[in-house]
Amino acid sequence: MNDTPEAARSAGTKTRAGAPETVISVKGLTHWFPSARSTHIALDSISLDIRRGEFVCLVGPSGCGKTTLLNMISGQLKPHWGSVDVTTSQPASSAIGYMFARDSLMPWRTIRSNVAYGLELRHVPRASRLARADEMLHLVGLGGKGHMHPSQLSHGMRQRANLARTLAMDPELLLVDEPFGALDAQTKARLQGEFLRIWEGTGKTVVFVTHDLGEAALMADRIVMMREGTIRKDIAVEFPRPRNLDALRFEPEYQELVRSLWDLFAEGEE
Ligand SMILES: Nc1ncnc2c1ncn2[C@@H]1O[C@H](COP(=O)(O)OP(=O)(O)OP(=O)(O)O)[C@@H](O)[C@H]1O
Ligand SMILES: [Mg+2]
Repeated sequence: MNDTPEAARSAGTKTRAGAPETVISVKGLTHWFPSARSTHIALDSISLDIRRGEFVCLVGPSGCGKTTLLNMISGQLKPHWGSVDVTTSQPASSAIGYMFARDSLMPWRTIRSNVAYGLELRHVPRASRLARADEMLHLVGLGGKGHMHPSQLSHGMRQRANLARTLAMDPELLLVDEPFGALDAQTKARLQGEFLRIWEGTGKTVVFVTHDLGEAALMADRIVMMREGTIRKDIAVEFPRPRNLDALRFEPEYQELVRSLWDLFAEGEE
């Protein structure tokens, strides 16, 4: 997180030979959940490569398998068939940061102590981990709020604290599931901008799940549209970076992309 944006991005996105390095390689991934009546196929032969430094959004209707795929990438779920290879320089436990859709802050701890918790598990000395927590809280706009408890914060502030907690671990790979799902439009727009600003300075690989096609078009380098456990479309998003989201929202190219995403989305609904 401390590198200059340019250095971090170029170091993070290229191998020595200059070709982007594959960080996540998913091959023929198939998974099902048995239920009382039948077996439900949640992922059906999914194959996908994600390169270092890419920001990939997974979109698709509720129940299409987005969270299941994220759980497979994080290693929390093992597929019945197929494989997921994640190449990181650190062990997966410290290389992968997973920010859940639900608020997972511990209510009895202060925000600062929540953010420092992962570092505590890594036995980072107290002064260092609290300094790191303060740095991350400042980064997400919660500087000076570290003494508060989760119940004293708004939903948007809690989501920012969640983000600070994930970033504090300095993961190489960020997996985020609907981080701004239940927020009002204004808070959501602000956090989207903050998330991108933070990410654009690090060059980390991000897999970001969202229901919101407009959000995906603003944030992603690539949008992977899923449907019923399969990948329906893999779309490159070419808008230059760093992106000014307040301006991009009103660009005709952006609006055209969102329209085409909706068309694709609607095709499968017929
Ligand atoms: N632990 C589980 N037990 C049984 N079925 C499950 C389980 N987890 C997921 N499923 C089923 O697998 C399918 C995919 O679920 P998943 O949570 O991946 O969808 P999703 O795309 O993340 O949906 P949403 O957008 O609503 O979060 C759904 O039909 C769901 O009911
Ligand atoms: Mg989900």
